[in-house]
Amino acid sequence: MAITAVLLLSSLGFLAITAQAQDCSRPVGDNMDLKGNDILLTSFPDGITVTFACNTGYVSAGGSPSVTCTAGSWSPVQMKCQRNNCFSVEDVQDGQVEYHPGTEFGDKAVLICNPGYMPVGGGKLTCGSKGWMGRLPVCEVTQCDSPPVVEYGSFSPVKDLYEYNEVLQYTCKKDYTPVGSRQLHCSDDGTFKPEPPKCIKVECGDPEIPFGQWSSGARPPYGYLSNVTLQCNAGYKMNGTATVMCDLNSQWSPGLPQCVLGYEESK
Ligand SMILES: *[C@@H]1O[C@H](CO)[C@@H](O)[C@H](O)[C@H]1NC(C)=O
Ligand SMILES: *[C@@H]1O[C@H](CO)[C@@H](O)[C@H](O)[C@H]1NC(C)=O
Repeated sequence: MAITAVLLLSSLGFLAITAQAQDCSRPVGDNMDLKGNDILLTSFPDGITVTFACNTGYVSAGGSPSVTCTAGSWSPVQMKCQRNNCFSVEDVQDGQVEYHPGTEFGDKAVLICNPGYMPVGGGKLTCGSKGWMGRLPVCEVTQCDSPPVVEYGSFSPVKDLYEYNEVLQYTCKKDYTPVGSRQLHCSDDGTFKPEPPKCIKVECGDPEIPFGQWSSGARPPYGYLSNVTLQCNAGYKMNGTATVMCDLNSQWSPGLPQCVLGYEESK
């Protein structure tokens, strides 16, 4: 009696499972999902037809988007969803468009201008579900303006705009020495390169040494590259270099010599 009851119960359970199995569970397809409110369902009754739509960024490459639930299983999905391809952008004047990494959904297009041209306005494009989004810049002839200002210095020529590769020449005011490149050019990014020189005031003090004096060479004020030759008094011998040069640090280079007692005067 007990055994019969168990058998009866389990066959009822079996029937319940097979009756439920007539429904279909949620259908799946590559890069697609159900359209509309069907997306909210978890179980689908026998005989129902539902329709797929490609996911964002994917487009149908053909085939029926609908599937039908028959006796617990779905008919095969015919539709294929492939990543949207935006294809190449139209040719651009004075530049090339580069694609990173390609022309499909999510990829980027960047404008690279030819040498002597620079991008103005716009930005990168992004491939969306309906084509390229954004606006590319246009390539315009490179020009530079506002040359760097150098303290105690000036440049020529003075203009509002400079052409690509045009050269600027820097000079320093009197008593100032240019350190660095004196020539700059208008580079392809619309700025002057390299860095402008610095104008440094170089003035060395009197090359005074005990038991010695100026012998020949430059006279004060001692500017950059002034050379002075020193000599020792009678009875003193020179230790060091007789001729010294005023360097950029306003120092005598390689250093002032010494006059040492007990040696004969140097020539
Ligand atoms: C001073 O000497 C240095 C090195 O000998 C030389 O390069 C420089 O031109 C000289 N300066 C002048 C003003 O002649
Ligand atoms: C010569 O000068 C060097 C460096 O300043 C010093 O070491 C040396 O003792 C000096 N020689 C004499 C004889 O004074």
